Amino acid sequence: MDYTGIESVHFGSDDLTQSRRFFTDWGLKKTSHSAKLLRFQTGNGAEVVVRDASSALLAPPLSEGAQFREFVLGVKTQRDLDRLANDLARDRHVNLDREGVVHSVDDAGIHFGLRVSQRKAAKPPAVVPRNAPGQRLRVDRISTHYEGAQPWQMGHIVFFVPDTGEAERFYRQRLGFHLSDRYVGGAGVFLRWAQRSEHHNMFLLKSPTGKSALHHLAFEVRDQHEVFGGGLAFAKRGWSTQVGPGRHPISSAYFWYFQNPLGGGIEYFCDPDFVTEKWKPHQYRVNRFSEWHLPKGIVQIDEDKMRPSLATAKAIERAQSAQKEKTT
Ligand SMILES: [Fe+2]
Repeated sequence: MDYTGIESVHFGSDDLTQSRRFFTDWGLKKTSHSAKLLRFQTGNGAEVVVRDASSALLAPPLSEGAQFREFVLGVKTQRDLDRLANDLARDRHVNLDREGVVHSVDDAGIHFGLRVSQRKAAKPPAVVPRNAPGQRLRVDRISTHYEGAQPWQMGHIVFFVPDTGEAERFYRQRLGFHLSDRYVGGAGVFLRWAQRSEHHNMFLLKSPTGKSALHHLAFEVRDQHEVFGGGLAFAKRGWSTQVGPGRHPISSAYFWYFQNPLGGGIEYFCDPDFVTEKWKPHQYRVNRFSEWHLPKGIVQIDEDKMRPSLATAKAIERAQSAQKEKTT
């Protein structure tokens, strides 16, 4: 059984004004807003929901000092949902809410939900084609410069867990995820929620503290220009880079991670590998986090302080000396 993707991710917040600014600056569309609740949407209609930290509607915080509460996955049919809920009910508490979401907890203490997908089929935005040797697909047209990102979907979610073997068993055997790659020795495991999917939709990392926590939540954007342009715009608004930009050798994606005030990181990424039943999982022995990355963002170009080009500088110089000759 395949999942349709992340339907929603839920956070608590002690500062909804800041949370509102954070997710709006990130490029999500705000769909509702009150003193106790914020709802945002990605391009494909998935939701980030932020509630006042004291709300009884929220699951408890996963980790101390952080506000991640729950993620909800979509399934295609009520039959799929019933089958999963019945199986989960064999050995854990399962609770069906009024909106049709089945809530439960995995073996690492992470609260998750399952629901029949509510998202309407949305058409992804067009991407301006790239030119390569022998393939001139963009003709008489300047490539895109993004003033800010508009994330299309939440492509993956990453958690620290005490035991990656146990977590892998839960997600593969109970929820039907597929193995993409892993680090040997239990350091980390990359899973995907459909046989044919992006390289990873969930990455489980061995927790250095032995406690579960959200590591990061990743949003897919159209291309590398949107990763860089979106990241630049977000940084300009005062949000701090965690690491990046850079490129992952595992999944081939470009990335840029920022700090989420609600805990963990938040990532723009693009161009992930897409894998199928033919994919053969690797067993990695060394850390392959990045092919390259910048540790803390990029130097921003201040257009007001830009130097003139060499030719312009020479022309100015010539004009100035001609003016000087005239006046002497
Ligand atoms: Fe990621």
